[in-house]
Amino acid sequence: MPLVPLQQILAKARTDGYAVGYFEAWDACSLEAVLTAAEQESAPVILGFGAMMVDGTWLDSGGVELLGSIGRSYAARSTVDVALLFNEAHTLDQAKRGIDAGFNAVMIDTHSWPTVDAIVAARQLCRVAHQSGVAVEGELGSPAEATVSGVDHSHASPTDPDEAARFVEETGVDCLAVSVGNVHIMMDQEASIDMGRLRSIHERVDVPLVIHGGTSFPPSAVAPAIALGVAKFNVGTVLKHAFWDGLESSVRSVGPNADVHKLLGSHKESDVMGVAQQRMTAKVRSLIRQYGGSGRQVVAAELSVR
Ligand code: 13P
Repeated sequence: MPLVPLQQILAKARTDGYAVGYFEAWDACSLEAVLTAAEQESAPVILGFGAMMVDGTWLDSGGVELLGSIGRSYAARSTVDVALLFNEAHTLDQAKRGIDAGFNAVMIDTHSWPTVDAIVAARQLCRVAHQSGVAVEGELGSPAEATVSGVDHSHASPTDPDEAARFVEETGVDCLAVSVGNVHIMMDQEASIDMGRLRSIHERVDVPLVIHGGTSFPPSAVAPAIALGVAKFNVGTVLKHAFWDGLESSVRSVGPNADVHKLLGSHKESDVMGVAQQRMTAKVRSLIRQYGGSGRQVVAAELSVR
């Protein structure tokens, strides 16, 4: 089916009291794992790719366009509502290329930029994107980030509620990623969420709020966060771990003299990517349920009855 505007997907989630996951993929195989999960849960979903971990030279030499075309191909065959996000572009120019590549939602990674520069870039991106019917996610404040030696708080800055209101008004972004104690790429512990700050932001900002760092977001905080305006969770690290664990276990179980044509690219039970995909699909399904998104897809038959 055609791509659905991100604003529409998030507005329905807010009205009905659930959140939609952006489950970050990195290639066709992982994207398919996400779409399969959404279809099995009958849930709207935000498909897409992120630039943060990807080599900028690769992205700038056709990678953005390649990812856009993979995403659009999968979205076209989806049975659930799908928006397609190019997440955390390194530069304004790259985000604009995301628009040309067919993504219907884009975001620049401005978390470490001075606010004034972030406002200018987001405003420019909105001007171009909105002309093409593409949504823009803004970001104000910077979540801490996990590293191999622990959580790095040195670049973290919480979102200021008044600044957030100004940011949204001056840029025209369609949703806003906030820093309220959430931590990026942290696997081994849960983040501690500042609900008071989230409430203050929610009281001043009327666009849907977004949480990055879904991997370490405490499950017990999901429902309270949704009640305070969060309509989108971004999840990445835990999905790569699920995929990797599946791949590792299926590769380990291969005996000597195995047929590589069965192991790679066969799309049969013997394909080592199959187990990896299934593990990722299972993880995405459990998160969709946690966010309350399961069964939210309105099917055409139901609409015609109304
Ligand atoms: P995690 O890797 O911590 O889940 O965060 C992903 C993310 O926020 C992508 O934008």
